[in-house]
Amino acid sequence: MVSVSVHADAATGLIAPSQYVDPGHHAAELDGLFARTWVFVGLRLELQGISHRGVNVGNKKLLVQCDGEGRPRAFLNVCSHRQAQLCEPGTHSGPVRCPYHGWVYDREGVPVGIPQKQAFPQVVAAPQRFRLTEYACETAGQFIFVRLAAQGPNLAEYLGSQFDFLVRASEGMASIQDEFRQDVPANWKVAIENSLEGYHVPAVHSRTFMQTDGMDRAEAAPRFFFEDRLHSHLEHAAAPDWITRFARMESKIGKWPWRFEHYTHHLIFPNLTVTSFMGYSFHIQCFEPTVVDRTTVHSRTVGVEFVGATPAGVKMMEHIYGDGHAFTRKVFEEDGEICRKVQAGLQCAVRPGVLAQGLEDRVKHFQQAYARAVHALQ
Ligand code: FES
Ligand SMILES: [Fe+2]
Repeated sequence: MVSVSVHADAATGLIAPSQYVDPGHHAAELDGLFARTWVFVGLRLELQGISHRGVNVGNKKLLVQCDGEGRPRAFLNVCSHRQAQLCEPGTHSGPVRCPYHGWVYDREGVPVGIPQKQAFPQVVAAPQRFRLTEYACETAGQFIFVRLAAQGPNLAEYLGSQFDFLVRASEGMASIQDEFRQDVPANWKVAIENSLEGYHVPAVHSRTFMQTDGMDRAEAAPRFFFEDRLHSHLEHAAAPDWITRFARMESKIGKWPWRFEHYTHHLIFPNLTVTSFMGYSFHIQCFEPTVVDRTTVHSRTVGVEFVGATPAGVKMMEHIYGDGHAFTRKVFEEDGEICRKVQAGLQCAVRPGVLAQGLEDRVKHFQQAYARAVHALQ
């Protein structure tokens, strides 16, 4: 892989303040941008057995479930009878059953259980005609994505080099270790941009990141990768003492499927980040655009399978995961608070910001992708 700098000089931001604060623009983003892109909606391991999951994509409420072949499929979360919402966001066990009159749908979205069905001869005669409205749904390893638009690139084309990363990261993904949903009082783009630069770390995270994050401070800077037009990632070498520490623990904690010696942070445009330190767990955050100045962050930490762990090693990893969860929440709070202040500033800003050369190249790359996506809608 090659590390490329987008442009050499500092530049004016490409997103106007109004695009972070105007409710009309936000509505257009949900209708347009979030309908044309592939949007992450969950993990396959969250859909075990007969179950379904309510998710929001753009301005639509959907549900995702596996069909008879175990393939995730996405449907509009609206009953074919009299349009009740079928399920709330989150995972539910059992088949889809409407809470209003009790219609039950099969794994292909066809109504198969209708109370007093003799009253609906047209549905009984051709239940397929009353199938739930379906949307494009594809996977990259564990990661399930949905596209609302009928036409567009397939998932592999859309993800580019990120497709292989997600497939590889999925190897050995075993269980959700930690999960939370929390609101950040800022536009989704503010939250994404905040995740794309480390420039704010000394000022915002002096009590967390600056102390113990396992990064190699001797290494001048993380490396940025911009091989995809929409997505980007960074790699920052792990500190040598952390690598030694894990090497020493290996006889107890065992081996995990994809071990690397750095921290990695991936942005999958528009609103998914996947990060990992050395590959022993993956932190998946989805930034759902709730309203123009509020974003619901859905955060999952997924553990991977270790081979050859001793009981003492399992305990050690529980500690490491536990510390990681506490760290994640603290950092999340610090970022949430600063994002609130950015949103307050944007509310009365009169011109776009300015981006650092080098340090904020991933923000610039995101803004370029965003500007192109918005332009394509006009
Ligand atoms: S609205 Fe769903 S069963 Fe009546
Ligand atoms: Fe931060």
